[in-house]
Amino acid sequence: MVKIEQLLIENFFKSMDQYSAEFMEGYKFPLALKKKITNFLKSSFNDENSYCSFSVKNGQVEKFILARSAADIGGNLIAISHFHFKDVPSKQELNKVIQSIMDFFPSLNSIVIGVSPSDKKVTRILKGNKFFIAANEFIGKTSDGIRYLEKTEKTSDVLIREMKFKRDIDSVLKIERRAHKEDGSSRIQSYSKKLQIEMKSHYQKMAKLGTAFVATKNEKVIGAVGSYPNGKLSLIATIVVDPKSQGQGVSKKLYLRALKDLEGRRSTFYKGQTTTSNVLAMGKKMKRKIGTIYFRKDY
Ligand SMILES: CC(C)(COP(=O)(O)OP(=O)(O)OC[C@H]1O[C@@H](n2cnc3c(N)ncnc32)[C@H](O)[C@@H]1OP(=O)(O)O)[C@@H](O)C(=O)NCCC(=O)NCCS
Repeated sequence: MVKIEQLLIENFFKSMDQYSAEFMEGYKFPLALKKKITNFLKSSFNDENSYCSFSVKNGQVEKFILARSAADIGGNLIAISHFHFKDVPSKQELNKVIQSIMDFFPSLNSIVIGVSPSDKKVTRILKGNKFFIAANEFIGKTSDGIRYLEKTEKTSDVLIREMKFKRDIDSVLKIERRAHKEDGSSRIQSYSKKLQIEMKSHYQKMAKLGTAFVATKNEKVIGAVGSYPNGKLSLIATIVVDPKSQGQGVSKKLYLRALKDLEGRRSTFYKGQTTTSNVLAMGKKMKRKIGTIYFRKDY
């Protein structure tokens, strides 16, 4: 058993290395992180609340799937944290796996699977099976983003400053609610009470870290951005601009401040999850690439 566990852990690391080769210039993940992941995997193998399915043949991992219950923008769902097939599965095989995962979590009725954009066949099967794109994980190099934004940034009457949580949170949440509701391409379409509480707590944490910023015009808050610094690869958790102030380059100013902050924290790369068309359009110009497509199905 221990040998099989080792093979599965190596399989997981291999997929991380592939990701790094493709999107992070071959960056070597630190040992401390690998240790943390090893512990997480070991606990998943023995955790009755985690779904774990694998097959190993002649010392090779043929299939390895890990799933667990996770919180996502205001609700709980089944999140697949590893989805490996040595050979591309048939439609029947894939559907069988999805069914067995759903059976394992009878109280959850949404499932999310992260797929590499190069996995064309799996993508096709999922789309044919009524999965839709819930988010694109969009990754870029901090310095590339800064270079583009410094070249194109124009607005002069908009100022960016650190968010003061108590002073700004109500205005920021108001903008969050309005901006997502009015942006048909946003992955957040209904801004539930639960999501508001979740976002409030995110802004509180980010403001404390000094990584939440607001855009102001005549001292009125018109937009916000927030990130979670995390070693070499940080997360831009949110960016919003009041619909009345959109299309004037405000988000570019916000991104520029957030990316400069991350650069100062030695975060060479950053990522975020989005379906928003403005973010995708601008992201291309910032040389961001889609690393993972998250497909979702609600039952
Ligand atoms: C995404 C969002 C923050 C962009 O804010 P914004 O201040 O309007 O964006 P900007 O004016 O800085 O424009 C940035 C880029 O978006 C695209 N864009 C903005 N407005 C556009 C328009 N009317 N038509 C086409 N592209 C547009 C362009 O690519 C533009 O870059 P460019 O000027 O170099 O071509 C805003 O649309 C929003 O708040 N959406 C709802 C919340 C959301 O979905 N946030 C993203 C979560 S990941």
